[in-house]
Amino acid sequence: MATAADVCSLENYLALPDHTMDERIAAARKELGRECVILGHHYQRDEVIRFADFRGDSYKLAQQAAEARSRYILFCGVHFMAESADILSRPGQITILPDLNAGCSMADMAEITQVEDCWEQLVRAGLTTDEGQGMTPITYMNSAAAIKAFCGERGGVVCTSSNAPAAFRWALGKNEKILFLPDQHLGRNTAYAMGIPLHDMAVWDPFMIGGGVTPDRLRAAQVILWKGHCSVHQRFLPEHVDHVRASYPGIRVIVHPECRWEVCQKADGIGSTEGLLEIIRSAPSGSMFAVGTEIHLVNRMGKEFAREDKKVITLDDSGCLCTTMFRISPQHLCWALENLVEGNVVNRIQVKDDVKQWARVALDRMLEIRQ
Ligand code: 13P
Ligand code: SF4
Repeated sequence: MATAADVCSLENYLALPDHTMDERIAAARKELGRECVILGHHYQRDEVIRFADFRGDSYKLAQQAAEARSRYILFCGVHFMAESADILSRPGQITILPDLNAGCSMADMAEITQVEDCWEQLVRAGLTTDEGQGMTPITYMNSAAAIKAFCGERGGVVCTSSNAPAAFRWALGKNEKILFLPDQHLGRNTAYAMGIPLHDMAVWDPFMIGGGVTPDRLRAAQVILWKGHCSVHQRFLPEHVDHVRASYPGIRVIVHPECRWEVCQKADGIGSTEGLLEIIRSAPSGSMFAVGTEIHLVNRMGKEFAREDKKVITLDDSGCLCTTMFRISPQHLCWALENLVEGNVVNRIQVKDDVKQWARVALDRMLEIRQ
């Protein structure tokens, strides 16, 4: 029997093997009952996602967080997702991220001071006013709360990979130009699919003077893309598509829109994590898919859809792992839950009120725009 002191210390959990966690997690979960909801992103490991009350892509999980009535929202995902859950939650609700080191390298590619600096230069170039008359800022969900607030305050919005086209349409209804943060690939893929040619897009590099873009190019661009990317999805290359098609005639290639434009152009389908699942779910048995997204989801789909006689493999054999999603271990989950049973809140994610206010505006707009 664990003592209260044992329960508080994460080190005591990290030394234990995965399989010893299952019964303890289930018991703590049962004891907390309706006090706690566990949200799990599709990239979580099997040993963790099996305990999620709801699993989904970023959009679906944000909806669940906004609708949750439980006292605790335990988020098995990464930091920006838990921050968004906290922003969307009701007063008195508490959001927990089992490992605070579960960040997102793409979200880290845009810092609020860099974004403010970029905007100031766009204002000086006469492309927008400080309030956003002239250009609508859109930030991908994969960004810090302060950047969401920045967009909210300037008439902008948050989007996820499942509603990016709707967010672009909404933004273009307000202004002719868009600043898209921080994933250049999602921004480029979305704009191109809407008929905006590549030469009407410019890439803003926050580490270069003037974003590394000439004033003329900046003025001509309809969409300015922040120079950020996902290091997991950027590893998929057009050669992988060619190789898998040659190896498995008839296979369908489906990819996440964080993949490079060249990869998306060669693919048969593009979707958020939930969207990719849906494409496979609705395919007839006997179908084959090569999927360009994180390896835990691909492997899980491989196992689950084998029962329906559908083959699901990764687009790249070297397997693309999101190391930060992987940080949420059964040990961290057990530690967070058993502490709640003891009345201790560990790893609370709490966005400051002044940031929360405008970030909520941008997230509410996203939920209103839907998909
Ligand atoms: P989804 O919203 O498609 O789940 O994507 C989140 C993410 O981080 C993909 O890398
Ligand atoms: Fe971030 Fe990429 Fe991991 Fe998604 S897969 S959480 S974008 S690092």
